[in-house]
Amino acid sequence: MLLPRINHRLLLLRHLSSPPPFLSSPSSSPSRFLSSSKPPSPASNLRSGVMTGPMGVQPPKLVFRQLFEKESSTYTYLLADVAHPDKPALLIDPVDRTVDRDLSLVKDLGLKLIYAMNTHVHADHITGTGLIKDMVPGVKSVISKASHSKADLLIEAGDKICLGSLFLEVRATPGHTLGCVTYVTGDGLDQPYPRMAFTGDTLLIRGCGRTDFQGGSSSQLYQSVHSQIFTLPKDTLVYPAHDYKGFTVSTVGEEMLYNPRLTKDEETFKSIMENLNLPYPKMIDVAVPANMVCGLQDRAAKA
Ligand SMILES: [Fe+2]
Repeated sequence: MLLPRINHRLLLLRHLSSPPPFLSSPSSSPSRFLSSSKPPSPASNLRSGVMTGPMGVQPPKLVFRQLFEKESSTYTYLLADVAHPDKPALLIDPVDRTVDRDLSLVKDLGLKLIYAMNTHVHADHITGTGLIKDMVPGVKSVISKASHSKADLLIEAGDKICLGSLFLEVRATPGHTLGCVTYVTGDGLDQPYPRMAFTGDTLLIRGCGRTDFQGGSSSQLYQSVHSQIFTLPKDTLVYPAHDYKGFTVSTVGEEMLYNPRLTKDEETFKSIMENLNLPYPKMIDVAVPANMVCGLQDRAAKA
């Protein structure tokens, strides 16, 4: 059996069963897609031991860090495959104020940052993605196509984002915003166990993101959580984009039992969301326009 070629560079596959297409982003470089290389085997094949077979291919070894930005109570996540010689790494939801800290950690750990990703267009802080791209040549920004914002790679539901031998699945979870996605670590014996879901603001620990701005919809959020997150194994770790009470991680099973909003029926949930009476988000008028262009609003204005 042919082993998949392990490549630290961008390997983004749209549905594992079909060849990886080029993305439509004008800044996407075909060379960054393994269009002529064999894609990783589907999870079913990975389970049969392809990645740990007698040919000596090493399974991925995950390095994971949860980082906190206190002004907006945002979590940034660092993932890397340190079993790969280049130690490829990615950041999910970096914040502009803490980019120096994050990049310093990447350097200390000897990692090679290749992606700076967002779960959605944030309204409460400016993404660090643009700064990171300036400071680390070659890093690609990633956000959903449905967000209608600019990035090097515009991902959609079903895409797989590969990092060495690790991969993240993209699940569309609109409702907090139109373009929200959840990134979920791969399903396979060579992938981290338990699985990890980076839910952005779609599902928070014992809560969820508001649905009254940015194309939000309480009905859509309810459907997203129940169809895309609560269908994951119950031991899947839930890592949200924010926490305001000091929680750091939950599980799918825990939220299915104890989330005070999403354990309700849909009509009750909608009523809860319609009566939150939250103040106007204080950063939204600055953050959203900036985040629509990767946090590089000044450059976009001059262009
Ligand atoms: Fe948000």
